[in-house]
Amino acid sequence: MSRERSPGGAGAAVEHSLFLPDADATAALAEALAATRPERAVVHLRGDLGAGKSTLARAWLRALGVTGPVRSPTYTLVERYPLASGGEALHLDLYRIGDAGELEFLGLDDADARLWLVEWPERGRGGLPKADLEVHLGIEGEGRRCGLAFRGNAGESWRAAFVRQWPLAGAC
Ligand SMILES: Nc1ncnc2c1ncn2[C@@H]1O[C@H](COP(=O)(O)OP(=O)(O)OP(=O)(O)O)[C@@H](O)[C@H]1O
Ligand SMILES: [Mg+2]
Repeated sequence: MSRERSPGGAGAAVEHSLFLPDADATAALAEALAATRPERAVVHLRGDLGAGKSTLARAWLRALGVTGPVRSPTYTLVERYPLASGGEALHLDLYRIGDAGELEFLGLDDADARLWLVEWPERGRGGLPKADLEVHLGIEGEGRRCGLAFRGNAGESWRAAFVRQWPLAGAC
């Protein structure tokens, strides 16, 4: 796991890069992020088709206690999950959105949302809350390369907690 600080400015973030050799490693990462997340978190999941965004989101929702089916929001754009701890988690997949204005019609309730997991966030630009964490997934050999960029004050506290939780963080 490597770490670097991006150039200063409002969007400055500490970035981590880690290798996920298989889907179980992606799920383990989701569990560590779920265990350390702030009370409210907005997560943008970036990466090409098949990069593992839904795998990460599904494992994250399971880690939060979602036991029923986790459907892909490919056509509905959003699936909502009530959380035992209160509020709800939103899983969005904006691949098929026409334009960012359509987000308004989904009636997403920011007050109730404790977690946003957003696939293809670049397609909802302007209509989404700012990310506390950006996850970049890319195919590397048989596995995946994952970049994590924690943003803002909430993101910085989250990063500190995550680094304590993730076993490879010591290699930074
Ligand atoms: N770290 C990993 N190493 C190898 N395979 C992985 C890894 N993580 C996920 N996969 C596999 O990648 C495949 C595609 O995953 P997934 O559907 O989550 O991608 P996606 O990014 O959501 O794609 P889309 O943009 O089409 O929704 C699945 O078969 C999944 O098991
Ligand atoms: Mg997907």
